[in-house]
Amino acid sequence: MKLVVANWKMYLTIRESVAFAKRMVRSVPKPRARIVICATAPALAPVSAVLRKTPYLLGAQDVGIARHGPYTGELAPGDLRTLGCHYVIVGHSERRRLLGESDTVVRQKLETALAAGLSPILCVGESLAERREGEAHSIVRRQLTAALKGLKTYNLKLTTYTIAYEPVWAIGTGTPATVKEAVLMHDFVRSTAKKLLPRGTKISVIYGGSVDQKNIISLLREHAIDGVLVGGASTKPSFIKMLKVVH
Ligand code: PGA
Repeated sequence: MKLVVANWKMYLTIRESVAFAKRMVRSVPKPRARIVICATAPALAPVSAVLRKTPYLLGAQDVGIARHGPYTGELAPGDLRTLGCHYVIVGHSERRRLLGESDTVVRQKLETALAAGLSPILCVGESLAERREGEAHSIVRRQLTAALKGLKTYNLKLTTYTIAYEPVWAIGTGTPATVKEAVLMHDFVRSTAKKLLPRGTKISVIYGGSVDQKNIISLLREHAIDGVLVGGASTKPSFIKMLKVVH
């Protein structure tokens, strides 16, 4: 089953998040793909209440670097579980770029998420300058290696390692990677992650960056693309139309 992750970023207020979640589950009660809604931290509890007893899953957009303790402002992974989160986005390029999240921090977050039983969605991707310099592969390899190499395995059978290939130049720009570009990078991400993780680990590679109603189906049609991460378009009414056609 394909995975569709909605990253609502900081676009919706709590009230808007709840209203949109209600509209979604009412309009498309049985989506034919696995849908994960990543609401803002303050909206998680009320959105969780709306999604309960529906096939929709809840995700957080970030997680703290530790389980518990003196970490002002961080999100405790156990609390995210208690709120009903199954997934968490880790290392989104907006956090790497705007908030200075390093590969080391991303690694810590990945570990705390896994230890708490959350399925991480690890984001990797190169910037436009890096792609132009021919460094796309080496940047993505560096990000994957820092995050995954030597990772202690938690519930290998239960956890799927979801990796979102999100070229920075495609995020929020309206210029997605072409299907061909995405497939090539997905093959690279999958083979690199496979080498870094223990044998038998389940890996799912999804694409993010200007996914919308126009391109979602052609992306999901590809065998190499296990799903999509939708940002801006997942907060608009057209997302409901996408939910009706994804499978
Ligand atoms: P976008 O964002 O769909 O608005 O380009 C994708 C993402 O940042 O995950």
